[in-house]
Amino acid sequence: MDRGTPMTIRTSGIAALAVAAAIACQVAASASPQQAPQQAPPADPASCKGMLGQSARIPAVLGGVPRYGSTYVLVVPQRNAGRAPSPDAPGVKTLKIGVQAGTPAVDVARAIGVTNIKEYPLDVATAAQPLQDVKDGSLDAAILWAPLAGLAIIELGLDGQVSVFTVDKPRPGPSSLRGGAAGAAAGAAEPCAAAIADELEISGVLPAELLATVEIRDLLARRPGPFDPGVARQGGEVFNQVCAKCHGQDAVADPKGLAPVDLRMSVTRFSFAGFTYIVLNGRPEKSMPPLRGTVTDEQIEQVYQYLKARGRK
Ligand code: HEC
Repeated sequence: MDRGTPMTIRTSGIAALAVAAAIACQVAASASPQQAPQQAPPADPASCKGMLGQSARIPAVLGGVPRYGSTYVLVVPQRNAGRAPSPDAPGVKTLKIGVQAGTPAVDVARAIGVTNIKEYPLDVATAAQPLQDVKDGSLDAAILWAPLAGLAIIELGLDGQVSVFTVDKPRPGPSSLRGGAAGAAAGAAEPCAAAIADELEISGVLPAELLATVEIRDLLARRPGPFDPGVARQGGEVFNQVCAKCHGQDAVADPKGLAPVDLRMSVTRFSFAGFTYIVLNGRPEKSMPPLRGTVTDEQIEQVYQYLKARGRK
């Protein structure tokens, strides 16, 4: 899998999910030593309102979007989902796809075999135009830098009406949209930047860096330590911060939730290596995101012990 990963098209409960995820992510980000060198701001989609009209603020906000700075996405409206169920589908080559001139999106489009390319000028003030045209029906799909796509999806109200796929390898964001290092630092404190990352995450978009998978054979030698209630308790905290938004608070699966599977049962079936493999690589075909870079090996073992303990009750 090097081209991209299908995701689910969301149809209902989007707002509630987004809010729940926003809260979960915020807590997770502040608890994750790898990811939060500074206190992450609360993710607030409402703070993105009107952002597309504020050209001067856009580069700082987009440059501050965590995790997705090197990711380009293919955005496909539901009316074309049949032709483009994934970025690898032959139908993608028949779509008229918008990209912004002078950005890596042009190379991305060629890399996945698109020939009917419409180039838009890269202008901060009209940066959302490709997605506006997708919305209006004059364009079949667009390939955009992920932070811009996330903002435009929020602002144009496309939430739940489009599928978003990571395409191709990590590439730098367009310099005029991502601001400088100082801009990124300022943007990292923007609630809108955090909301964009959440929007992308909940849409199942993988950060491009995560497309390379961890091999199961590299994990086979791993064994969890002996059961330790303290470790399990820490695992419970990690679980509620990172996994609960999909797998249910305290690992009680919600039949109507994002992941109805009961993990307290799953851990009785999986080896520790298998469990670690799924957490690191995710199950993209089932919308379980890879959590490499989000949780440490130590935290995975803590969560494993926690789930084992919960399963015994
Ligand atoms: C964004 C949502 C999301 C998050 C966050 C998430 N998962 Fe998942 N997970 C899923 C979905 C969806 C599935 C597939 C459910 C199914 O098979 O029906 C899944 C499946 C799994 C499975 C396979 C279960 C089985 O029996 O097949 C494991 C193990 C798992 N997740 C562990 C975790 C752990 C541990 C965390 C936190 C560190 C986590 N997940 C975070 C959505 C998520």
